[in-house]
Amino acid sequence: MDHLHTQGIDMPKLGLGTFRLQGDACRAAVESALGLGYRHIDTAEMYGNEDGVGAGIEASGIARKDIHVTTKVWHENLAPDAIRRSFDASLAKLRLDHVDLYLVHWPAKGMNLPAMFETLMKLKQEGRTRAIGVANFTVALLKTVVEEIGAPIACNQIEYHVFLDQTKVRSYLASKSIPLVAYCPLAQGKVTDNKVLKTIGARHNASAAQVALKWLLDQDGVAAIPKASRAESQQANLDALNVKLDDEDRKAIAGLPKDQRLVNPGFHPDWD
Ligand SMILES: NC(=O)c1ccc[n+]([C@@H]2O[C@H](COP(=O)([O-])OP(=O)(O)OC[C@H]3O[C@@H](n4cnc5c(N)ncnc54)[C@H](OP(=O)(O)O)[C@@H]3O)[C@@H](O)[C@H]2O)c1
Repeated sequence: MDHLHTQGIDMPKLGLGTFRLQGDACRAAVESALGLGYRHIDTAEMYGNEDGVGAGIEASGIARKDIHVTTKVWHENLAPDAIRRSFDASLAKLRLDHVDLYLVHWPAKGMNLPAMFETLMKLKQEGRTRAIGVANFTVALLKTVVEEIGAPIACNQIEYHVFLDQTKVRSYLASKSIPLVAYCPLAQGKVTDNKVLKTIGARHNASAAQVALKWLLDQDGVAAIPKASRAESQQANLDALNVKLDDEDRKAIAGLPKDQRLVNPGFHPDWD
């Protein structure tokens, strides 16, 4: 599988999302995915499933160094001492001595960006996270983080799929060689019934979901973390890597409506 090399880490382009997977179901899904060949797992303190992710990693028997683990600090915990507390709790639940990537899950109103990144950088210097990054950051916020603070962010994880235009953020990230990690890459499953994607899939012996996923993974500097609880879907998403889309397919996908943002938690200060 292709990797994205960023800020000293190699992140597999396809990872397993785990939002809404809990407890033993989460452990089983993570163990299954690792058994099938996944080497990138995405979790967050907010998902309440880091214990299940940790149990799945342990049960897989795969060497720690061969797995990329991302977790995230919730927007209510962005004061320096709160970040430390959240981080320690995440590591303990994951049963790990370090993570590969630690993200700010959402920006918060009134957050102190320099203090936040100083704390995150210390965690990196201490070797407890190999890299740091952000999620749901706008171009304006990215500019502050990258150009004013100079924080070495390894990615911006944002909603990105065939039904949502992200040209503005994508262009900025590409100009700074920062990867985009696409969440909700299957539009929370909504891609499966789309006629255009189904028609493309029929030409390639692939499903609509595989087409939607491969469209993302074909893009430079883009990783994707579909959540799949069943082994069949996990395998189908791995197999999507073998789908070969052509210009005609990409033109048809470009013509889909791209205004469907699915995640809006209500506390985001500004999307632009
Ligand atoms: N940073 C953030 O703020 C943020 C926000 C949202 C999500 N995320 C991350 O991104 C991950 C993915 O997003 P998401 O879970 O919201 O949505 P998603 O990955 O776009 O869609 C998940 C849905 O697609 C289904 N599915 C998976 N593979 C399939 C296949 N091959 N064919 C048909 N259906 C398939 C899943 O089925 P099952 O239900 O059977 O598994 C599930 O219902 C999350 O799990 C989380 O790790 C991050």
